[in-house]
Amino acid sequence: MSTQVPVLEVRDVAVHFGGVKAVDGLSLKLLPGRIYGIIGPNGSGKSTLLGALTRLTPLTRGEMYFDDVEYHRVPASEVARRRVARTFQTVRLLPDLTVRDNIQLGADARSGASEERPGFFDRLFGRGRSPAVADAIARTQLQGFEEHYPSEMSYGTQRRVEIARAIAMDPRLLLLDEPTAGMNQKERAEISGLLRSLRSEGLCQLLVEHDVQMMIDTCDYVFAMNYGRLIAEGTPEAVVQNPQVQEAYLGKKWREHA
Ligand SMILES: Nc1ncnc2c1ncn2[C@@H]1O[C@H](COP(=O)(O)OP(=O)(O)OP(=O)(O)O)[C@@H](O)[C@H]1O
Ligand SMILES: [Mg+2]
Repeated sequence: MSTQVPVLEVRDVAVHFGGVKAVDGLSLKLLPGRIYGIIGPNGSGKSTLLGALTRLTPLTRGEMYFDDVEYHRVPASEVARRRVARTFQTVRLLPDLTVRDNIQLGADARSGASEERPGFFDRLFGRGRSPAVADAIARTQLQGFEEHYPSEMSYGTQRRVEIARAIAMDPRLLLLDEPTAGMNQKERAEISGLLRSLRSEGLCQLLVEHDVQMMIDTCDYVFAMNYGRLIAEGTPEAVVQNPQVQEAYLGKKWREHA
């Protein structure tokens, strides 16, 4: 195994909701410049793990280290400043803000601009002229949509805005919860290309996806979950062929497009 220092290390993390052991004793290490995948049937704990990794969901037990900081002690309000970014399984854009302003929120979150200090970036750059926003718009091919509102755009385009908002944070770790759900094959290939280009710049990414082809095309290494635990890990090809993984999905489709 590589001697590289992990961006993130998770040690024996559990998240229980009453009697539901959504995540139940999970350990993993993520190295810089890699794209990691998480697969697992519905309800296996994938989104709960991402919630724990953004500190929104409290741990029942376990430890997490991000850049060697005791990340399990970092409050959720500090996560953006530490440059951990996330996209959600269901799109969460602010409907009353334009595409540009939604993306600006990502840049503001990272820089610490807040409601207590409104207009900091407005004064510094002029609204929407933060370079990180322009870069995120270009990378997600959203030019021409800047002044649109989310409700005016297709679902796939809204998902790109979410990814752009996360990129505008200039993350060190990017967590993506089914970012290509609702996209067609062409859009999915474009997102795969975008994530691979971010990898080439050294960004560590953790991608939850059901789409096997997307995983094979995009990920360096895949973790398979079932009932809150890891049941397999390795190259995407090896993990999807793993009998325990096949068994976990038995009777549950990988996904209609898989
Ligand atoms: N806030 C919560 N309160 C109670 N139970 C929860 C909560 N969030 C998740 N769960 C339960 O935890 C388990 C794991 O859910 P989670 O959403 O993490 O699964 P998932 O792998 O992301 O599934 P999917 O593929 O459907 O998105 C499920 O049994 C779910 O019902
Ligand atoms: Mg989920």
